Amino acid sequence: MDRWTADRIGDQSGRTFIVTGANSGLGFETARQLAAHGGRVLLAVRSQAKGRDAVARITAGQPDAAVEVRALDLADLDSVRAFAAAILADGIAVDVLVNNAGVMFPPRRLTPQGSESQFATNHLGHFALTGLLFEAIRRGQDPRVVTVSSGEHRGGSIHFDDLTGQRSYSPRAFYQQSKFANVLFGLELDRRVRAAGIGVRSVLAHPGYSATNLQSSGPTGLGRQLMKVGNRLVAQSAGMGALPQLYAAVDPGAQGGRFYGPSGFLELRGYPVEVQPVAAARNEETARHLWEVSEQLTGVTWKL
Ligand SMILES: NC(=O)c1ccc[n+]([C@@H]2O[C@H](COP(=O)([O-])OP(=O)(O)OC[C@H]3O[C@@H](n4cnc5c(N)ncnc54)[C@H](OP(=O)(O)O)[C@@H]3O)[C@@H](O)[C@H]2O)c1
Repeated sequence: MDRWTADRIGDQSGRTFIVTGANSGLGFETARQLAAHGGRVLLAVRSQAKGRDAVARITAGQPDAAVEVRALDLADLDSVRAFAAAILADGIAVDVLVNNAGVMFPPRRLTPQGSESQFATNHLGHFALTGLLFEAIRRGQDPRVVTVSSGEHRGGSIHFDDLTGQRSYSPRAFYQQSKFANVLFGLELDRRVRAAGIGVRSVLAHPGYSATNLQSSGPTGLGRQLMKVGNRLVAQSAGMGALPQLYAAVDPGAQGGRFYGPSGFLELRGYPVEVQPVAAARNEETARHLWEVSEQLTGVTWKL
């Protein structure tokens, strides 16, 4: 795994990937690299115009790239259901689902179903999407579910008694909650597939600190200005940040139940290595509770 780069991605011909949030940042780089190595990539995006623009940017460099846009708004469970239903109706065997899309630090907002937007987009939407697509994924070749978390998960906990932030909302605490939920989900899915004897790898990744639209689309005010400066001075490129999730998605060495992130100082930058989740994210009782609550809130009940 020494200095793993995208050059180490093998031939992905005949494999189908779904990448959420593939029009921007890490999702775009992930889609671009998977397509460059022969994979068919479905760009699951909430804006058709941005999706078409991403396809144009990919095909400008690779005219034969097998990339297509599919509409998915993770903050709206009706959209998640429609997206999954279309994939199943089209008989698409999904080899790898990359749960990448995310929002960070927005002001408090509720989704059409009444959930807080960061928890809904970053966790609940992906929980529902993975559950709805699971039958298609388990039929894939070397099937994997990659869930993109963050170093910010370390400060997270699940506010089971105030999931919508009605009593108290902090943009950062709710982002941390959603990224902590990503880790709980990825590890719990790994335990469940192993217990059921299903050969799907549930792998976690995080990109360190990478300059993308994340730092400007959610935060407001001074925080946004500071992050702009940070993006210029501290962050690594989106191409580097995408490496851990690419490794998780395709490398034969990436294992279910493991977490991959950058090798450098504080895991902020560098080439992918295995990293450790915070101890609280390994708590199986919390993970089971989150799973049950997520089933209730999404109406998606998994059959493993
Ligand atoms: N960049 C970092 O330093 C960093 C650090 C740790 C973790 N991460 C994680 O990396 C992932 C990717 O973020 P990024 O840095 O690449 O940010 P980005 O450039 O802002 O990309 C985020 C993507 O998610 C999409 N998205 C947002 N809300 C959505 C929704 N409701 N439905 C569908 N798609 C939605 C965005 O679509 P629009 O373009 O339409 O907004 C965009 O395509 C996120 O999960 C983030 O938490 C990033």
